[in-house]
Amino acid sequence: MTHIATTEHITLSSFLAGAAREERVPAGLIALIDAVADACSSIATAVERGAFDGASGNAHSENVHGEAQKKLDVVSNDIMIGAVGSVRCLRGLASEELDSVQVTGHEHSGGAAEYLLLFDPLDGSSNLEINGVVGSIFSVLATPASGAVVDERHFLQPGVKQVCAGYAIYGATTMFVLTTGHGVDGFTFDSESASFVLTHPQLQIPEDTREFAINMSNERYWEEPVRRYVRECVAGESGPRQTNFNMRWIASMVAEVHRILMRGGVFLYPRDNKHPQLAGRLRLTYEANPMSFIVEQAGGMSTTGQIPIMEVQPEHVHQRVPVILGSKLEVERLLRYHDEAAAA
Ligand code: F6P
Ligand code: MN
Repeated sequence: MTHIATTEHITLSSFLAGAAREERVPAGLIALIDAVADACSSIATAVERGAFDGASGNAHSENVHGEAQKKLDVVSNDIMIGAVGSVRCLRGLASEELDSVQVTGHEHSGGAAEYLLLFDPLDGSSNLEINGVVGSIFSVLATPASGAVVDERHFLQPGVKQVCAGYAIYGATTMFVLTTGHGVDGFTFDSESASFVLTHPQLQIPEDTREFAINMSNERYWEEPVRRYVRECVAGESGPRQTNFNMRWIASMVAEVHRILMRGGVFLYPRDNKHPQLAGRLRLTYEANPMSFIVEQAGGMSTTGQIPIMEVQPEHVHQRVPVILGSKLEVERLLRYHDEAAAA
């Protein structure tokens, strides 16, 4: 469960310096995480000030997925690119709001590790007009040693290769949640000191839960194992689960994953036949993979329904994937239902 540190004042910078001293995180990666965290605090300000800075409403453009961009999607994307551009070990980036990958122009060092950053600059942006929760999601991959010249192929690594992942949530408070493969730590933005402070060390997702999150309006499009799972949850005490469930849907993946980290739960955006040509709603490389890394590092599980999300070999950076993640026992149950349906 969640522990709130009240006695020590550990900032994200001092936390990362400690990780460097213990040789858990290379110096280059620390510079990159620092730059991403700086970008997130600027995005939080941009979201807060949107109405005053002429940045609310639609940008009257579409992203590569054909979705209408909000002005703040574009602003957040520019903030992230501006903040990380000067980090020397960063060789390239991919974003939900860029049609293709960008190389940074930094020369191949040939020595120290070099990285690629993949991000969704403003997740859940349909929540902006209702003053709802939004966030930023990011994933870091190492550039393969052969990467003297970086191109899209270098980004097509399965999620198990991520060296770092995290998200920022812009809610009642702004938080930055991070994993470098040594558990998951949560930092709350302290506006007095303008720094992220460690408030939620080593988060653990309870393995059992009685709360699920899914967009119920898509029920008729779902695959049968998911329909069965939700049917049984909704049946409550009088159904086969013999217990009542609660449901939440915030329509912002960052907010759903954050809730699951705080108190458990399961989140589903499964494969459906609403758009049969797409594998799902969510994007593999900058949404599903980083969230899966975080959830697994916190003791939860993540799957497509068939295989672990982080084992999916990406074919292009904007590819979609079915997502089922959260408390271990419920995700295992969903996997069992998929196996049983496949065997029938
Ligand atoms: O980025 C995609 C996203 O906005 C997620 O943050 C969220 O979980 C989902 O889409 C919401 O989907 P829907 O519009 O179907 O509720
Ligand atoms: Mn998103």
